[in-house]
Amino acid sequence: MAIAMTTGYSAQTEGARLCIDAASDWALTCVEQLNDQNHHVLVDYGAADGGTAVEHWNRVLDHLHAQQPGAHLTLIGNDLPSNDNVALAANLALQIPRPPKPTVLLSARSFYEPTTAPGTVSFGFSATAMHWLSQSPGPLPRHTHVLASGDAEALERFTAKAMQDWTAILELRSRELQVGGRLLTVNLSRDEEGRYLGHNGGKTRNVHDQLHQIWRELADEGAISEEQYRNGTVLNFYKSPEEFMAPLKDPTSAPYRNGLRLVDERTVHVSCPYRKRWNDDGNTAAFAAGLMATIRSWSRHSFASSAGDAAADAVFQRLEQRIADAPSEWSLDYVEHHQMMERVA
Ligand SMILES: C[S@@+](CC[C@H](N)C(=O)[O-])C[C@H]1O[C@@H](n2cnc3c(N)ncnc32)[C@H](O)[C@@H]1O
Repeated sequence: MAIAMTTGYSAQTEGARLCIDAASDWALTCVEQLNDQNHHVLVDYGAADGGTAVEHWNRVLDHLHAQQPGAHLTLIGNDLPSNDNVALAANLALQIPRPPKPTVLLSARSFYEPTTAPGTVSFGFSATAMHWLSQSPGPLPRHTHVLASGDAEALERFTAKAMQDWTAILELRSRELQVGGRLLTVNLSRDEEGRYLGHNGGKTRNVHDQLHQIWRELADEGAISEEQYRNGTVLNFYKSPEEFMAPLKDPTSAPYRNGLRLVDERTVHVSCPYRKRWNDDGNTAAFAAGLMATIRSWSRHSFASSAGDAAADAVFQRLEQRIADAPSEWSLDYVEHHQMMERVA
């Protein structure tokens, strides 16, 4: 499996919650425009432990209930079988006491598979999850992240895989959506200046280059083998707005043929909350620990799966030390692409 979050996900990912909050206005717009029905199914794809989205789903369910008080609502939380699905079930259950007492369900499957019956979903939502590739597009021999690698040949392979995966995700979702249903994706992306999570255009250090430097250090010291070094790859990809929209602008693509259409899109920047706090309180130890933990939450699996837990732990000890040594040179700023879609036929 390409990805697994560390446990305690939502406690370590304040930035991801801010990214969800930044998309709430469009989520409310999506549910406002749903046809009147006696029931609606809503899905959160790649929800992790669900903690970052509790308030978001409060707002969405309340809004839809206010619009359609007679409709029964079902909220499905989706993530991989390896996810902390017990925590996800508990966070989904927080919605049950609210009128109209929604049904909550858990889908412990990949979003690269169908999650519900065709034509059943009114509103699909996904935040900061669909950048993970379904499988490796082949070697990345001299870096841990393709976008920071400067490896043109690998970039071509990763881009092709990312586009194939994205089209497959949209095809699956277009089948699950009912006609008139909406899909809102909130994805880590590249902006028009080529910035992405971990690379803010040089204001602070490129986080992916830092992770790679530490990984290379461990190889040079003999703590990991050259093969383990080469296999330590973060298997995700941050697409550009044009790449996100491409399957919806191509009348021959499977999602387009299934009736999925682009309604609106935008790119949103969310500043690093850990860095903001450090600017205010100057608490370097808390900053280094908090920022390290949030980077570890999404990257640890890539190192541990290649060289084991001890090597991964060494990466994050060194990362925390690097942040503590030069705090003003660190910030993890998010670049997220919001894409609102509708199934029209
Ligand atoms: C960074 S977390 C985001 C969690 C939450 N949506 C948020 O925004 O805070 C990414 C989640 O995507 C999940 N994920 C990655 N690949 C997946 C797949 N193929 N199917 C379902 N979930 C997946 C991971 O397990 C992880 O929980």
